[in-house]
Amino acid sequence: MEQIYITRRLPDEGLRILKKYDLDIYEGDIPPSKKEILQGVQEKDALISLLTDPIDKDIIDASPKLKIIANYAAGVDNIDISRATQKGILVTNTPGVLTETTADLTWALILTIARRIIHGDDMMRQRKFLGWSPKLLLGADIYKKTLGIIGLGEIGYAVARRAKGFDMSILYHNRIRDKKKEKKLGASFVDLETLLADSDFITLHVPLTAETYHLIGRNEFKMMKKSAYLINTSRGKCVHESALIKALSKGWIQGAALDVFEHEPDVSSQLVELPNVVLAPHIGSASRETRGKMAIMVAENVLAAFRGEIPPNCVNLDALKKEFK
Ligand code: GLV
Ligand code: GLV
Repeated sequence: MEQIYITRRLPDEGLRILKKYDLDIYEGDIPPSKKEILQGVQEKDALISLLTDPIDKDIIDASPKLKIIANYAAGVDNIDISRATQKGILVTNTPGVLTETTADLTWALILTIARRIIHGDDMMRQRKFLGWSPKLLLGADIYKKTLGIIGLGEIGYAVARRAKGFDMSILYHNRIRDKKKEKKLGASFVDLETLLADSDFITLHVPLTAETYHLIGRNEFKMMKKSAYLINTSRGKCVHESALIKALSKGWIQGAALDVFEHEPDVSSQLVELPNVVLAPHIGSASRETRGKMAIMVAENVLAAFRGEIPPNCVNLDALKKEFK
């Protein structure tokens, strides 16, 4: 019987599908160490990993039987995909199901930072609200403002669709221009510099790759409006965090709302002390419904691999074909 190592207990919807296999589940609440993963993956046929587990060469090489690495995430930047490909191992992710959920969170962050909800909540709980006041907690309008979307993939597109309800002007920047999406949204394709200079809210929806690492740094912050807000629900490493801290503390931009951090789960203490930033603990896909669907997808990818089929969400299929042609 095939054996599966799972680096954390996933929602039951997924585990149920895999129950006829031998499941070795890491039961801790914090990510297992590399040593623990190395030990866990020994002799296993499948590895189900989380985005917090760096799946490097050592881990990939640890089980000669490994057929599939099924990541419980849309992003796969935690996996050494080229090593997996060399070894003929399938790598899968969970795209699609978390698109709308992550777009919802992006909007929650836009609204929270612009309307200062966290400060307002603090004030209420500390019993410091003394009555309605003309200048109490003034924030920024969202309606009819300009939204700049960096990365118009599925999530960027879902964020843009919601922006139409706020009558926003939508700018986007993407590697490839998508005239069809553009037309549906009434969005304008612009270069990164124009997007940075003209947007009131700038939101990142790119995967983490060599090209997007530190995509937003000192120079980019300097190009933004002083009244601009940066929203990041993609990957922390896409933003140069110390440049962001400078931008926020020196007033180069108005504020930021972040679901991801450069050195996750560590967050710079300087960032925590700044008043003009909203911080969320990487909960973009964290709805009960979506996390259940992601677990089902992971399980179905593993089942397909065990049947000798191509899993529905294989990310290295082309690379595998090239490697083994
Ligand atoms: C979340 O960040 C994911 O990639 O699923
Ligand atoms: C955040 O809540 C802010 O007011 O900037």
